[in-house]
Amino acid sequence: MTIGKIIDGKAFAADLRERVAEGVVQFVAAQGRKPGLAVVLVGEDPASAVYVRNKGKMTAAAGMESFEFRRPANIGQDELLELVEELNGDPRVDGILVQLPLPAHIDEQAVISAIDPAKDVDGFHVVNSGKLAVGQDGLVPCTPLGCLMLLKEELGDLSGMEAVVVGRSNIVGKPMAQLLLGENCTVTVAHSRTHDLASVVHRADIVVAAVGRPEMVKGEWIKPGAIVVDVGINRVPSEEEGKSRIVGDVATAEAISHVRAITPVPGGVGPMTIAVLLRNTLVAACMRAGMDTPEGL
Ligand code: GUN
Repeated sequence: MTIGKIIDGKAFAADLRERVAEGVVQFVAAQGRKPGLAVVLVGEDPASAVYVRNKGKMTAAAGMESFEFRRPANIGQDELLELVEELNGDPRVDGILVQLPLPAHIDEQAVISAIDPAKDVDGFHVVNSGKLAVGQDGLVPCTPLGCLMLLKEELGDLSGMEAVVVGRSNIVGKPMAQLLLGENCTVTVAHSRTHDLASVVHRADIVVAAVGRPEMVKGEWIKPGAIVVDVGINRVPSEEEGKSRIVGDVATAEAISHVRAITPVPGGVGPMTIAVLLRNTLVAACMRAGMDTPEGL
């Protein structure tokens, strides 16, 4: 039995953050100011609070300015839209990220639409998703772009490969499909209603699993020699009483003997998301300043 390679997303992400930090030095030298990222956190969701804290630390470590805005869960939509408007107009802010999900009484799309597309480092604004769809330069969602970077590092040219994306969210599945199309893959987007998901996945040279269901993609579904990117971060009860652990959307222990390579959870795609967020912030800062994006980013 052969065992597939475990893709070290953590190491790749550290390298990307290093390259971003070098680009930041060039930006500061040219512009006399640091690129700035504003993160807005609404409510007290503990997982979101951890992400936001990490984002702040890593932004500062990359040499950028980090602005954090915490607002109570009962903030009114108009007040949140006003904050976004203020950040749109703030020249120190190059990137705006409103942490999702937002409380149920707030219309997420309205908030995303209020963000200046030039500062939309999540790439969620319809202007940026439209640019991605037609192949124009714009800001691209962090998690799928991080997945694509790992795939290209592993495979080089993806042209002509059969790719199956499991999941159709606006954050991962849909932009991932667009990115893979842009690399000349033959792309299928599968989801919870897909008939015979096992055989659809079995066609794939590249599987991207982003459904948010613990270990839903089984090892035997994977075509021998395929590359698997596992985007899932699912908290499940652990064998130890009262404890929990994190698993992906792929049954990795089964899949490992089928794959050429697979991203682990944790330590695969997760660290890439923040690294790409920093990259997008630098890219947004360069675009706004009329500078070329530094080489290799
Ligand atoms: N919540 C989970 N993932 C993301 C992301 O990529 N961006 C934002 N803004 N919120 C998220």
